Amino acid sequence: MSDSRGGADSGLPTTIDTTVASEARVYDYWLGGRDNYPADRALGEEVAALIPGIRTMARANRAFVWRAVRYAIAEQGITQFLDIGTGIPTARNTHEVAQELDPSARIVYVDKDPVVLAHARALMGSTPQGRTAYIHADLHDPVSILTDPILTGTLDFDRPIALMLISVMIYFRDDEDDPRTIIERLLAALPPGSLIALSHPTGDFDPRAMAHVERAAEQAGLTFVARSRAEVETLFAGTDLVEPGVVSVVDWRPDLLDRPMPGFDPSTDTAWVWAGVGRKP
Ligand SMILES: C[S@@+](CC[C@H](N)C(=O)[O-])C[C@H]1O[C@@H](n2cnc3c(N)ncnc32)[C@H](O)[C@@H]1O
Repeated sequence: MSDSRGGADSGLPTTIDTTVASEARVYDYWLGGRDNYPADRALGEEVAALIPGIRTMARANRAFVWRAVRYAIAEQGITQFLDIGTGIPTARNTHEVAQELDPSARIVYVDKDPVVLAHARALMGSTPQGRTAYIHADLHDPVSILTDPILTGTLDFDRPIALMLISVMIYFRDDEDDPRTIIERLLAALPPGSLIALSHPTGDFDPRAMAHVERAAEQAGLTFVARSRAEVETLFAGTDLVEPGVVSVVDWRPDLLDRPMPGFDPSTDTAWVWAGVGRKP
């Protein structure tokens, strides 16, 4: 069963502006997708010139999504997912990994990008036993997400939920956007035993290159805030970090990867992304 919300009631744009870069489409470009335009490719190439491993980083990040979902289901028995900042559908989305392990898994996707909305149908395939849903919404307003009838009608808030914030907090500035309060609000709504899986690009490996990337993104009209490992750890406030803590995305439970990620070799590739999973006590 599936459900979606978008269009006029979200208050967000539903038409695609191809003249300016979008976070979702630039990421799609690095992943080798087709939903990108010259403005996205121009920024994507500018970043790739500064960070030659950017395509590997994007794939490493996707491989973390797969492993975090497997961890939630196989080791924590959690079968409900709230995936905010979903991205354009690509190989093995959250519901595909989850429902492969447990066909009754329920997934709600949230994104603000009209291209992702246009692909919502692909995100909403579901097993008959499970459920998937899509909400066109902005994470800057977590209350609108938490009170959305699609969310409350799909996930059971009496049972633990895995909150997925995978490479999305990078678009939130500390001063203007208050990412920690946003996460706090989301976590407050989730029952004990819930998880937060979060990954976040960093400048720790090459501060100069990442500073250039931040400026290039700003010039293209996008916010891009790389964070240090210590800063990323603060995004897990209110949870207990599970082993191995906040580590390079490549090093977070590599044993959980059940199949190779095409274009990514975890034994040699590096990725300037911190990742971790926290559990709400
Ligand atoms: C880098 S992609 C990550 C996609 C996916 N989570 C992954 O890691 O493969 C970031 C996604 O976050 C979405 N996003 C950015 N800011 C957002 C916001 N304020 N509210 C909802 N989604 C947002 C973008 O539209 C984009 O699809």
